Amino acid sequence: MSGHTDMILVDENGIRIDGRTVDQHRPFKIEAGVLNNADGSAYVEIGKNKILAAVYGPRECHPKHMQNPTKAIIQCKYNMQTFSVSDRKKPGPDRRSIEISKITAEALENVVLTELYPRASIDVYIEVLQANAGTRCAGLTAASVALADAGIPMRDIIPACAAGKADNKVLLDLNKEEDNFGQADVPIAIVPSTDEIVLLQMDGNMTRDELDKAISMAMGACHELYDVQKDALKRRYAKRVVEVETDE
Ligand code: CDP
Repeated sequence: MSGHTDMILVDENGIRIDGRTVDQHRPFKIEAGVLNNADGSAYVEIGKNKILAAVYGPRECHPKHMQNPTKAIIQCKYNMQTFSVSDRKKPGPDRRSIEISKITAEALENVVLTELYPRASIDVYIEVLQANAGTRCAGLTAASVALADAGIPMRDIIPACAAGKADNKVLLDLNKEEDNFGQADVPIAIVPSTDEIVLLQMDGNMTRDELDKAISMAMGACHELYDVQKDALKRRYAKRVVEVETDE
């Protein structure tokens, strides 16, 4: 997020470098239940982002000193594959992945009924296969579908989308160039049934009015993404019913 580039990110007609208008998100694609060996899983594409999420649990939490006697803990690991970005990413955790893992787990704690599973751990793995800005939002979107696919009781599923600012215009769902050279990036996640915001971060600067506009744009996109998440889970459920009927 430098805010300085010779590149024109939004032209005089309000068209962005990938052809979108300022209030257009990238294409969404979600598939639930893509991994056989995890309890729940999901694959998400948002534009050029490609993300896999896998869930294990609830299972007994180890080491035992991490157990909470009143509820399950959610342990999240966000990881970018070395080949997910153009400059090879050094393998292993870094400050950024630790931060994203933490904010993802905290957002999910708002919807997962952790009180049903004292002393347990629910483990969420997010693997970024290809990154193009907005991976924390795509990862959280995938993780909540994977949790639902694992049959873990939840109040709702969480969609997440960013909005931001580049070339002095408020934009929905920034791509990598807009994220790197734009003026602000605001990732947001919501609980759609209540419109409660469970993740709100901001990198860069915006006026209060611009921030209000960014939040409202991102929340609109989250509701669209929510429909795509629900469709993925319905397709997964229908497939399971067919599998059970064929086995009988
Ligand atoms: O991905 P997200 O927008 O949630 O997080 P970010 O820290 O704002 O990163 C923006 C983008 O920068 C990522 O999606 C990647 O495309 C890129 N990036 C990279 O190329 N190398 C890294 N080590 C980290 C991020």
